Amino acid sequence: MKHSQPLVIGNWKMNPISLLDAKKIFSEIKRSQKKFSGTSVMIAPPAIYLPDLSRINKNTSIQLGVQNINPLPSGAHTGELSLPMVQEFGATFSIIGHSERRGNGETNDEVALKVVSLLKHRITPVVCIGESERDEAGNFFVFIEAQIKSVLSQVPKTRYKDIVFAYEPIWAIGTGKNATIDDIMEMQLFIQKVITKFASRTTANQIKILYGGSVHGGNAGLLFQSGALDGFLVGGASLKPTEFLAIVTATTI
Ligand code: PGA
Repeated sequence: MKHSQPLVIGNWKMNPISLLDAKKIFSEIKRSQKKFSGTSVMIAPPAIYLPDLSRINKNTSIQLGVQNINPLPSGAHTGELSLPMVQEFGATFSIIGHSERRGNGETNDEVALKVVSLLKHRITPVVCIGESERDEAGNFFVFIEAQIKSVLSQVPKTRYKDIVFAYEPIWAIGTGKNATIDDIMEMQLFIQKVITKFASRTTANQIKILYGGSVHGGNAGLLFQSGALDGFLVGGASLKPTEFLAIVTATTI
């Protein structure tokens, strides 16, 4: 059974389409924050909404973050945002290596570079890992191990505890399909085993492991009760305050 404070992260992706709607969703979540005092809540809106949402995020425990970042501080990188820029507008974490970005060509090496840069700036990296399909032979474990290793090999062991891993099987994202509780428990043990190879079991226990992929108010409780997870990374349901709050409540211990 995990004993760390649970964590639920909302990944809004490229939604909603107006600032007005973004403010409405955020305000509704903010209004209920007393109900989830036992769980950390973080939200990654489209970065363009960050300044406005930061402004209304006063006196709350909700953390705001971004969905991607460029690892360099400034320069000739058209269309990119740097860490100091988003930090100025209240970002305390960044999702890294989401499968939708990896699908567009983001490599393990690029993900690792971003994690190193985030840790230097004391911003929490939320590193997404996950296979596109589960083969009978279990080759997906090799794939996931490579994703984890490429990050850990670049980071000082003392900083491992500052990384959050989100296991998101690609086939479960936005599809309504979930990994089974057995799959999740097995994967959590596997991730911890890989981390233990690099550091100690104690360190492996300190790193938060989230699950993502079609999590909603109706299945979060059962998945969380497996005891294998520190929380969830939520896509679609994070835009529906009632659903999102039900997920948060399911993890409140
Ligand atoms: P989903 O997305 O909850 O809509 O499946 C999860 C994610 O992509 O992080």
